[in-house]
Amino acid sequence: MKHLLKLQDLSTEEITEILNLADQLKYENKHRIPHQHLKGQTLGMIFTKSSTRTRVSFEVGMYQLGGSALFLSKDDIQLGRGEPIRDTARVLSRYVDGIMIRTYDQKDVEELATFGSIPIINGLTDYCHPCQVLADLMTVREFKKSLKGLKLAFIGDGNNMANSLIAGGILTGMEVAIGCPDTYRPDAALCEWASKKGKLTVTDDIFAAAKDADVIYTDVWASMGQEQEAVERAKVFKDFCVDDKLMSVTAKDSMILHCLPAHRGEEITDEVFEAHAKEIFEEAENRLHAQKAVMVKLMKK
Ligand code: CP
Ligand code: NVA
Repeated sequence: MKHLLKLQDLSTEEITEILNLADQLKYENKHRIPHQHLKGQTLGMIFTKSSTRTRVSFEVGMYQLGGSALFLSKDDIQLGRGEPIRDTARVLSRYVDGIMIRTYDQKDVEELATFGSIPIINGLTDYCHPCQVLADLMTVREFKKSLKGLKLAFIGDGNNMANSLIAGGILTGMEVAIGCPDTYRPDAALCEWASKKGKLTVTDDIFAAAKDADVIYTDVWASMGQEQEAVERAKVFKDFCVDDKLMSVTAKDSMILHCLPAHRGEEITDEVFEAHAKEIFEEAENRLHAQKAVMVKLMKK
């Protein structure tokens, strides 16, 4: 494993290794056992979109691993003025030991990996959010003990989260159901790949998707970069809400995950969100541990 560009590039074994290491790092963190695996190394963090969790967890994670992180907003580097990704990749590769990038086009992340000579980590694109789903899988394992055979249902937009959950869920032996409007389905090529490897359903019937699900997942109706579509999307998605009625058809002791930020009263009701806050904020914490595991796997010399 040289980079983390999308989850489909990983094997089931590689995902399990990352999750195991993440559990170990979490344990060591809690018990204040130092683990400076990346002492003296630097991570460059390119952001062309906003972030709370990704930025802070990568920066703190790098610090805890004995290294440091540089926040590179597009407005502060020449990328924002049109310097090509391929040149940025070749320059930064000479200064830093790894790059985390959050941007729009998945192709830009792939190009960074092609032209750079250091590990590249995808911190979210319009296509996928692999770091988030590694933390999600870690959280499900923590609450449910194992992943294989569980049913994961995603309710909402067939977006970057849906795509990564399909890949991560299928690779770890979960059944995945997506409840989304017909016009907002996840990536077609990815669905074809997933259907060959495991059990995937895509339906506009959210009750069918959620039925007997062990894990319910939801995300905003309008992602970053789609703000101007928010009004139109609110109409299309108005019935794609995780509420008590939907939860009543899920498995006993089902859990809820949300990548955050959440829009209460849209994709999830305030009551349901707060009733599952324990899982949702553990999930947010696990971003730190899962990403530290990814960085150690990719960057440890
Ligand atoms: N879930 C997530 O990636 O959060 P941020 O946008 O705050 O980084
Ligand atoms: N789908 C959301 C995820 C945020 C973590 C977005 O892309 O804005």
